[in-house]
Amino acid sequence: MDIKEAIEKALTDNLDSSVDAILKAGNFVIEAGGKRLRPLLLVYLVKSLKGDIEKAITLGCGIEYIHIASLLHDDVVDKADSRRGRASVNKVFGSEVAVLTGDYLYAKALFLYSTYGTPEMISILSQAVMRMAEGQLLELKSIGSIIDENTYFEIIDGKTAYLIGACFGVGALIANVDDADRFINAGLKIGRAFQLIDDALDYESDSDKIGKPSKSDLKEGKITYPIISVMDKIDKNFLSKTLLSQNPSQNDIDNIVNEVIKLGGVEKTKSLALRLLEEAKKELSNYNLSEEVLFLMEKSVKRVS
Ligand code: IPE
Ligand code: IPE
Ligand code: MG
Ligand code: MG
Ligand code: MG
Repeated sequence: MDIKEAIEKALTDNLDSSVDAILKAGNFVIEAGGKRLRPLLLVYLVKSLKGDIEKAITLGCGIEYIHIASLLHDDVVDKADSRRGRASVNKVFGSEVAVLTGDYLYAKALFLYSTYGTPEMISILSQAVMRMAEGQLLELKSIGSIIDENTYFEIIDGKTAYLIGACFGVGALIANVDDADRFINAGLKIGRAFQLIDDALDYESDSDKIGKPSKSDLKEGKITYPIISVMDKIDKNFLSKTLLSQNPSQNDIDNIVNEVIKLGGVEKTKSLALRLLEEAKKELSNYNLSEEVLFLMEKSVKRVS
């Protein structure tokens, strides 16, 4: 069995609730696939550092459960009706089931970490989840207003980057590397780069391609980096009016999206992501990481398969 298959097996095997609704909703979102980027990064990092791969698979599964829980909750909060190329769990089973299955998965992750991990790993992970909730709330609070670059990075560090940082930190600890903080920092940069690309794809991709709603950030009243990077050239009155409108017209959204693309906002976002990827690799250059894991980092950010 290769690593990807072992991760898939762990995800299915560890979901062993006796409650039907949890099994159905959990398996529904797990079977839909997803890139499994966080457990893959963790396990390949451990492999490269010559740590215990079995343990990495179980603890990687725990991080993927946390990620899936956050997606279930995110789709309720964002009122999104698709995820991973399927209808979202909230759409099919209702928000109640989505929230409670998410809670179950968070606790299951904690259970796996308390059984197979260490207090230091649990500390890294629980801080990442606290920051995720803070980042998601800061984003909610900022809906409808034009935020600056600092606030944007505070939001994406919280909602996305810290959990990816945690993958690197836990990986380093499994492999008994002392300098887990350096790994967390590098992972944070990968996480930032990852969310920057997610935000670029929201502007330039179709829903079919990304398997979830596209052009949704602006529609939800959210300002992301593509627009922040060209803010000095944007008509801010029009932008504010569109952001504040409860239900902006597709035409107004398309106008802003096209303007941002034309001004180079999506390109700037991608090049910042690539710079962060390089910084992350440089941060870890002393560890002689395998080509395999370096390539995986690159693939994760660039979204090439
Ligand atoms: C989606 O994460 C949520 C973000 C943090 C942008 P992924 O793009 O890793 O989602 P899956 O797991 O592949 O579906
Ligand atoms: C997701 O942010 C962050 C978390 C799930 C914590 P988004 O709302 O941008 O993610 P997508 O675009 O719905 O995947
Ligand atoms: Mg969201
Ligand atoms: Mg969302
Ligand atoms: Mg998004």
